[in-house]
Parts: sequence; structure tokens; C-alpha cells
Amino acid sequence: MKTNIIYNGDCIDTLNKKVEEKSIDLVFADPPYNLSGNGLHWKGNKTGGDWYMVDEEWDKMSAPEYLQFTRKWLGACDRALKDKGSIYVACSYHNIAEVMIVLKQLDYKVNNVITWYKTNAMPNMTRRVFTHSTEFVIWAVKGSGWTFNYEEIKKINPNKQKDGNLKQMRDFWELPLVQGKERLRGDNGRALHPTQKPEEMLTRIILASSNKGDIVLDPFLGSGTTTYVAKKYGRKWIGIEQDKEYARIAKQRMKK
Ligand SMILES: C[S@@+](CC[C@H](N)C(=O)[O-])C[C@H]1O[C@@H](n2cnc3c(N)ncnc32)[C@H](O)[C@@H]1O
Repeated sequence: MKTNIIYNGDCIDTLNKKVEEKSIDLVFADPPYNLSGNGLHWKGNKTGGDWYMVDEEWDKMSAPEYLQFTRKWLGACDRALKDKGSIYVACSYHNIAEVMIVLKQLDYKVNNVITWYKTNAMPNMTRRVFTHSTEFVIWAVKGSGWTFNYEEIKKINPNKQKDGNLKQMRDFWELPLVQGKERLRGDNGRALHPTQKPEEMLTRIILASSNKGDIVLDPFLGSGTTTYVAKKYGRKWIGIEQDKEYARIAKQRMKK
């Protein structure tokens, strides 16, 4: 099986055709949250800045379609994952229910639901609800014997004990939305991908749940954050992205 590769195609099809059964150590999936097309528009749109109103064709499904889609792609990841492997799924309040239902149906054990507190979250324009400032990352495993590099994660925890000693990392991660130099931008200054995830998030996940030489797979690669961080830490990597332009951007990023 080929590794260190980015496929431009549909993840369900590619997982089933190109990825061997029980071959993957760690999956990180950042699927469409199904939140586009809700009629909200950001006046004076700051597209390309830190905030971005997601409005993408790949992110618009009916509720039954979305549950069915979740079943299919999680099923394809399940086939590819080793018995002691881990899967991390990024989600928000829009899609956490579907992801949890399908993980339970596939007989996964949820180890953590990590809360990502976005320290620079977008203000709420409607003024009718509390400002949304969190997303979640579900960490699920198949059986016992999963990898958790506890000591390594302690070392990279920015929070320390009162006496300065290392502290266990909690399931509450305070990380800004990607900004500054880390944000991939085109010549016109606009963000190249609307939902680029922080490298720090992938660093924690990859260091916690894989070892050097392990294979890390991302079925919704987007701008390539997962493969970029996997390569940086000596893991093998496989990325799948259906959009031609995003796949090109991710491939370009790997050359850095
Ligand atoms: C939420 S974004 C992932 C962003 C990524 N984590 C990053 O840091 O850039 C989801 C991506 O999945 C892609 N996508 C949507 N449906 C797909 C499918 N069926 N197969 C492969 N990619 C898909 C979209 O084009 C989009 O780039």
C-alpha cells in the first residue's frame, strides 16, 4: 500500500479502493459539519481574515443525507483502522450527535470528547444566543491497547502546576483559530481554505496517539494540516481530498 501520498478523490471510494484493511494507526477526520447554507451572511465579509463564514457546496446536506454520509465515511475508516488504532473526529454542535451515534453503532469506545475553546471566536451577529466559541474533537478507540503517550503530552502541555512542574493535559484546549503566518493565503491575501485547523491541535493528537513510523490518515484533508504535522513528526501519512484545488494546496504544503 502506498503511503506519504495525497489522493484527490472521494474519501469513501478512495478508502475502500486504495487503503488496506486494518492498516492505519491513527485517523484524524475533520468532516463537513453540514452548517453551510443556513441563510446567515456576514456583512462586510472578512473572508480571508481570522473569521470566515463557511458556505461551501460540500457542506450542504439534508439531515437524513448527512447521517447516511456519516455512516458511510466512518464505516470506511473503520475498515482501514487497526484493532488498536485511534480515530479522532472534529465536530461542532451541528454534527456531534450524528458522529456519536455512528461511533456507538460501530462499537467504538469514546475515550475523550475534547473541547476546543477558540480564544478568538467570531462575535455572534444575531444577538439572540450565547456566542459560539467551542468545537469538539471526539477520540474513539476500537478495543483496549490503544496508544497514549502520556509523558510526551505532559511535556508539551503549556499549563504547568503551581510549582512549575509538568501537568497532565486536560480535555480542554485553548487554541486560537488559525491566524498570522500559519494561515495559508493566496496572493490576494485571502485564506486558501475556510476551515484550516491549528497545527497545535494536530501536534497534540499525533504525538498522543501515534509513534514514529505509524501511518496517519486524514479522509478530509483540506489544506493538508494533518499530513504536514504527521510528516514533521516522522509519521507516514495518507491524505484524501475531493476538491482539486484544495488537494493541490495540500500537496504544495507538503513540499515546504
Ligand atoms: C472541514 S474541511 C477540512 C479542513 C482541514 N482539517 C484543514 O486543516 O485544512 C473538510 C474538507 O473535506 C473535503 N471533502 C468533503 N467531502 C469529501 C469527500 N466525500 N471526500 C473527500 N473530501 C471531502 C472538503 O473539500 C474540505 O476541504
